[in-house]
Amino acid sequence: METKIVTLDTELEKSLLLPAKIIKEGGLVVFPTETVYGLGGDATSPSAAEKIYRAKGRPSDNPLIVHIAHPCDAENFAFTSDVYYSLAKDFMPGPLTVILKAKPSIPKETRGGLDTVALRCPENIVARTLIKLAGVPIAAPSANLSGSPSPTNLRHVLADMNGRVDAIIDGSESEIGLESTIVKLNDDGSLTLLRPGKITPEELFARGYDIRISDAVTDELKDGEVALSPGLRYKHYAPKANFVLLEGTISKIYGYINNDISEHRAFFSYEEDLEESKSKLSGVRIYNFGKKDSKEEQAHRLFSLLRDADEDGCDTVFAALPEKDGIGLALYNRMIRAAAHKIIRL
Ligand code: TXA
Ligand code: MG
Repeated sequence: METKIVTLDTELEKSLLLPAKIIKEGGLVVFPTETVYGLGGDATSPSAAEKIYRAKGRPSDNPLIVHIAHPCDAENFAFTSDVYYSLAKDFMPGPLTVILKAKPSIPKETRGGLDTVALRCPENIVARTLIKLAGVPIAAPSANLSGSPSPTNLRHVLADMNGRVDAIIDGSESEIGLESTIVKLNDDGSLTLLRPGKITPEELFARGYDIRISDAVTDELKDGEVALSPGLRYKHYAPKANFVLLEGTISKIYGYINNDISEHRAFFSYEEDLEESKSKLSGVRIYNFGKKDSKEEQAHRLFSLLRDADEDGCDTVFAALPEKDGIGLALYNRMIRAAAHKIIRL
């Protein structure tokens, strides 16, 4: 399939007419959002959902997030509640996905067979204008091939999706770099955090929500345990290289990496430690992971650096295990999964 690359000019709506038409007619379009790029199709069409699973190489029992242009559009697709509207007022449009009981207007193919649906109203103006012009909600998982890190710029999207979709919108680099926070709205009005993101549990708690963090956010599923969010079952975000997380002082971390016998080693160093890392770790490729106290910067860089390390032929990539506070929880969650839960405590 030939993939059309759509560039944006000052008249946004005009440049989005073609991609909107493609969605309306059942085709696939990759579009930017503030979190990561999405691989979109008409969420009301079973065949578009099947095309998405095929293009991504994703098992069709792993449901898709349905993107809407306005929080109130949720009425058409799900059973809402006061808590939903309170979340909408506090955080939408923005990087929050809410799981609600589904109405039949969203076919079971989009929902991966579940009786719930994941709804998100993105803040990115390109994404929202595209949804409005298409006139249908857009089902979109992250636009990576299943198993590889989510794409945060056009180069990543082209590497995974060129030739697999009808069009790719050339938007800017994703601001946040990690996928949306996912919360499930329970019948008693409480929330369960299924996937951490930029909107943190601390923030939800401070606004008065009754929120509980699902064990699967930080721990490996035990044999036979059922994941609340099907995506949590799969190894995710994983680079081809072996990604290893180290917990300990920086000198112990250097010592461990120096003793490792892999041929092409790499280390994600904090910006302040770059010079020291280069001098202590000879023969190891050093990447700048951002400032030590800026988890936002690290979140923004993680997926991109994992891809760079693969392109550069690294076979073992080391990083320090992050703290779990604030957006650190999202970083921790993506990093332990990229490392397939391998943490070495020094
Ligand atoms: O930031 C994001 O959320 C991006 C952009 C494109 O919006 N999308 C994204 O989609 O990350 P995806 O498909 O890569 O991740 C969606 C996750 C999966 O783990 C899936 O299992 C879960 O959401 N999910 C979707 N519907 C669900 C449901 N009804 N119940 C529980 N989990 C659900
Ligand atoms: Mg994904």
